[in-house]
Amino acid sequence: MIASFQVFISQVAQGLRSGKTPTLEQLQTIATELLALCKATEFDTLLHAAAKPGEERLHALAVSDWDGPSVYLVSDGAGVSSPPHEHQTWAVIVGLRGVERNTRYLRVPGQGRWVVQQGVTDVGAGEFLCMAESEIHATEVVGDGPTYHVHLYGRALSALPTFAERCFVAQPEAPSMN
Ligand SMILES: [Fe+2]
Repeated sequence: MIASFQVFISQVAQGLRSGKTPTLEQLQTIATELLALCKATEFDTLLHAAAKPGEERLHALAVSDWDGPSVYLVSDGAGVSSPPHEHQTWAVIVGLRGVERNTRYLRVPGQGRWVVQQGVTDVGAGEFLCMAESEIHATEVVGDGPTYHVHLYGRALSALPTFAERCFVAQPEAPSMN
């Protein structure tokens, strides 16, 4: 745990007044402030624990004990990807090093857990991505080196349903007419 991040999540919680869902504008403000905090933080000690190829590493920077915002340092090794999933809470992803490709999906109406690709956003160093509670994404490491990102969620990961319960199945893309 890092004290400055514990102060940060307390301030975020206070700003949202006990668990209210942030607006997109509030999320962007939170992301800008989190990016500034990350730039001011010396991560070197943690960064020694870089993920090896195919490995995922998660360090808790600050976890609220009142089912509120929680923030983690994530290192994904080369080749790591995740299937389409939701978080069932809002999220902010800040890039520290490397590039994480985020593919966004939309639910297919009336088709249960099937989703269709909506767009792609790469998150590199100094960039961020805001996600509302209803949004669905898949992630993929771009390049040969590990990525480092800071992930802030509206609730602790341990308080969420299991990852498998939050996953979706991507509908195959329509074949090209060429
Ligand atoms: Fe995610």
